[in-house]
Amino acid sequence: MTEKFNASDFYCDRQGPWPQPSPTHPWGESPSVLHLPLREKFDWWTFVGSRYLATLGLTPYYFLKGLFQPGLKEVSDSRFEWFLNETMLSKFLTDKLDDIDKNIFKEVLKDTKKNWYIVDLEAVKVVNTFKGLHCSGSKTLLYKIDSHPNHEGGERYIVHSIYIDKTNIIFYPKDGEAWELAKYFVLQGGALCSTLVTHPIQHFPNDSINAIVKTALPKNHLLYRLLYPHLRFTLQLENAVLNYKSSLLQEKWWMVYAPYPGGPDGLRELLVEGFKGIKGNASYPPFSFPMKEPNFETKYGIYLRTYYKVISNFVGKIIKYIPEDEIWTKRWANYVNKNVKDFPNGDAIFKNDNLHKAVTSFLFTITVGHSVDHYNYGALDKREIPLRLRQAPPTKETKLKKRSKLCNPIDLMKYYLADSLFFSPSTVTSLIDTEYNFLEKGQRKAVQEFKEDLINAEKELLKKGIKYMPLKEIAASVQF
Ligand SMILES: [Fe+2]
Repeated sequence: MTEKFNASDFYCDRQGPWPQPSPTHPWGESPSVLHLPLREKFDWWTFVGSRYLATLGLTPYYFLKGLFQPGLKEVSDSRFEWFLNETMLSKFLTDKLDDIDKNIFKEVLKDTKKNWYIVDLEAVKVVNTFKGLHCSGSKTLLYKIDSHPNHEGGERYIVHSIYIDKTNIIFYPKDGEAWELAKYFVLQGGALCSTLVTHPIQHFPNDSINAIVKTALPKNHLLYRLLYPHLRFTLQLENAVLNYKSSLLQEKWWMVYAPYPGGPDGLRELLVEGFKGIKGNASYPPFSFPMKEPNFETKYGIYLRTYYKVISNFVGKIIKYIPEDEIWTKRWANYVNKNVKDFPNGDAIFKNDNLHKAVTSFLFTITVGHSVDHYNYGALDKREIPLRLRQAPPTKETKLKKRSKLCNPIDLMKYYLADSLFFSPSTVTSLIDTEYNFLEKGQRKAVQEFKEDLINAEKELLKKGIKYMPLKEIAASVQF
């Protein structure tokens, strides 16, 4: 490919979107893409924004639902364990105990025969709760067992104890009502950390790649043809979440869909923790563009890796048509590298299979990786995994309030609305139906094989008893 291109050979006549420092947190959040072509805004409002407006009509229904089914449900110990083993919360499981963790649990850890793990939800410390609402950092200690009669695929982790940061106490199942309350604080922390610390990493750092594909590559470039179908709706969605005054990250009296327990300052700090990491806490490393498959050990990890392999296979079959050291790809990588930490630059992109790894990782994250988090979180019972709690963190003597009083109908209404609007997936374009504008016969055959492989991957997972998001609902892009 040579330099002989006209402006019309590019998206938006070469005046497409481009990343710039985040207007809210230029050093603490990933670059933002703020100036979007009208066509992207119009497309988003037609297919996504209009659904938001229509869904707001359900506000009275959700209020009545919260009124007639008040408060929280009981979460048994085995249900609690299920949350940490099999939902998206299982992504927090790690055997990397920090010095602080080792100190907190030093008595328990003397039992060196057990293989100890931790679910560290300290990140929520930065949330400034509204009057009457509470939240606390927590650390849940678990140990791994190799096999479990009810478990096919992945490992199993048994809950041992919970440390609640605000009261500086370790709770055990024998602690009765205090233990019951401690479990809710862990689940609330999981909800906050999932939606505002770890999930955003699948959104915002990738916006730079989205914009740079559109603006730096000619429309007939193979990489553009491969990625463009996966870039729809995303940039305008991100703008609405990060910068609109009506975003759920804000809190105004009329925001019937803002479900969080605190105001925008603390919530924004959660995003910063996800991107910049938390110093000295191995559970929250700073963002680095991933160049490998997700390594979670649980069922959730098996689901993710199964699709990762299928996407990797497809990407390999397409990018082999890009000649080594091809100049547009090198320039594209250079631009991305300046905006996305640890993305290979133009010199590195054709070395060590880097182009294959980088494109696979990007495509996987914005499709399967992102979609399944929404599906899984959306399916969780909001009366078991609260965002708002109306009882202070426990001490050993704490008596649990009536569960019906742990959150009020307004809290539930806000949560249900946010779930319907933002958390549960609402797929407009699906991965399995993606159409690519490939010209070569071999590339078109690769698309056909990709779709067959996706279908087979789902069958293989179901055979293993691993059931998360159905393939037909996985979105082609970040569109919710
Ligand atoms: Fe998302």
